[in-house]
Amino acid sequence: MRIDEKREPNAMTSTADYTDKIPNNVDLHEDRRLQRALESWQPNFLNWWESMGPTLPTEDVYLRTAVNVGREGWAHFGHVAMKDYRWGIFLSERDREREIGFGQHKGEPAWQAVPGEHRADLMRLIVVQGDTEPASVEQQRILGETAPSIYDLRNLFQVNVEEGRHLWAMVYLLHAYFGREGREEAEQLLKRNSGDLDSPRILGAFNEATTDWLQFFMFTYFTDRDGKYQLGTLKESAFDPLARTCEFMLKEEAHHMFVGTTGVQRIVERTAELMKRHDTEDVLPRGGIPLAIIQRYLNFQFSVSMDLFGSEQSTNAGSYFTSGLKGRWQETRRKDDHVLLGQERQMNTVIDGRIAQRTVPLLNALNLDLRDEYVADCNNGVRRWNQALEDAGLDQRLTLPHEGFNRRVGTFAGHHISPQGEVLDGATWEQQAAQWLPSPEDRAAVASLMVPEYEYGAFAGWIAPPQTGINDQPVEFDYVHLREEALA
Ligand SMILES: [Fe+2]
Ligand SMILES: [Fe+2]
Repeated sequence: MRIDEKREPNAMTSTADYTDKIPNNVDLHEDRRLQRALESWQPNFLNWWESMGPTLPTEDVYLRTAVNVGREGWAHFGHVAMKDYRWGIFLSERDREREIGFGQHKGEPAWQAVPGEHRADLMRLIVVQGDTEPASVEQQRILGETAPSIYDLRNLFQVNVEEGRHLWAMVYLLHAYFGREGREEAEQLLKRNSGDLDSPRILGAFNEATTDWLQFFMFTYFTDRDGKYQLGTLKESAFDPLARTCEFMLKEEAHHMFVGTTGVQRIVERTAELMKRHDTEDVLPRGGIPLAIIQRYLNFQFSVSMDLFGSEQSTNAGSYFTSGLKGRWQETRRKDDHVLLGQERQMNTVIDGRIAQRTVPLLNALNLDLRDEYVADCNNGVRRWNQALEDAGLDQRLTLPHEGFNRRVGTFAGHHISPQGEVLDGATWEQQAAQWLPSPEDRAAVASLMVPEYEYGAFAGWIAPPQTGINDQPVEFDYVHLREEALA
């Protein structure tokens, strides 16, 4: 194993100075070269934030800022002008005894430097992860203009600044461990843009526009959750700095999951209330979002997020695992040999026009293994949302579509599968797709409801208020101070 660069940040338990230019727990001040490199990337990041970040003019926002990684609290809450937000670099504390938990290096000490033979693959994994972080900020940039409340506006901005910090997290790794190539990749992360025809973001779902708040909540539920699962595999990585970075990112990601789960839940609650009160499914004239439209948005966001897991069968995924770059979800809790040679599993595929099972080597089906964990997690939210319908005394239910529905990647790409899992011919699909996926009319209907509600404590009519505020503040707290021109 060739060691390219040696670097060993000391785990720091004290709280970083959050007024630092780049708050960090990697002893940045001890490595002048790295510090200078990051300080010269920082203005480019800020330019990107100004030109591609949130469009709504604000004075300041009540935001959480990561300042530590310890158990005694890692976040600072306070009103801050977003351009002055302190995007810092935080890795979970180092476990000096940590061993590689899987693959051919199982039992060996975790890597503190990048092994030469895995340099290209590791850099690619970091770049792909890094690319998704600013992409979602770009996708969500205009949503502030139609926020259903100041509370929701604050949550949107919290997600946005933390995705910005996740970009910093990946850029730190590129700068610290991948030399000049890494610095070039860090530049490119600011040059690709979501939906840009010439230079799009790397993954499909990150080039779809986030048109409205229903889609934003579906995105944070389904697409951020894909992120959670990808981070979960990198958290197991033999490359210890990557593992520790991702472990800490997962802490922040939990809030993004919360925004998605409760956002959809509050919409469903409001819709259920209107359905009950007016005894109709057509709640649009009453200012609510019809359940059928919610289902179609769900179908869309779930299916594009499923594509993010890649092909069910992937030799790359197998070799990443065997070489120690990426583990499985909760690898250390799995009760098997963590090597997986010669093991098999079943997968669904289309055979002779029907969905049938095939036996495949487990090592080649690790994308599917991760996706299965993800789908099980997705189902929890759907159950919660259905509980709201049940509590309202309604019989209607939301469902996750079949894994083969509307897929562009993997074994179901090129087939037409209904949400119930029937294989359809092209003509039937064309006829029916409008009832399963959001139509331009659906998007227009939702858009017609998207009028901003900027009064503290007030909520747009299509969404129920939350149970509680953020960080023990009341729901009607002044989470965001808008600039005059935002109100004009
Ligand atoms: Fe993220
Ligand atoms: Fe996220």
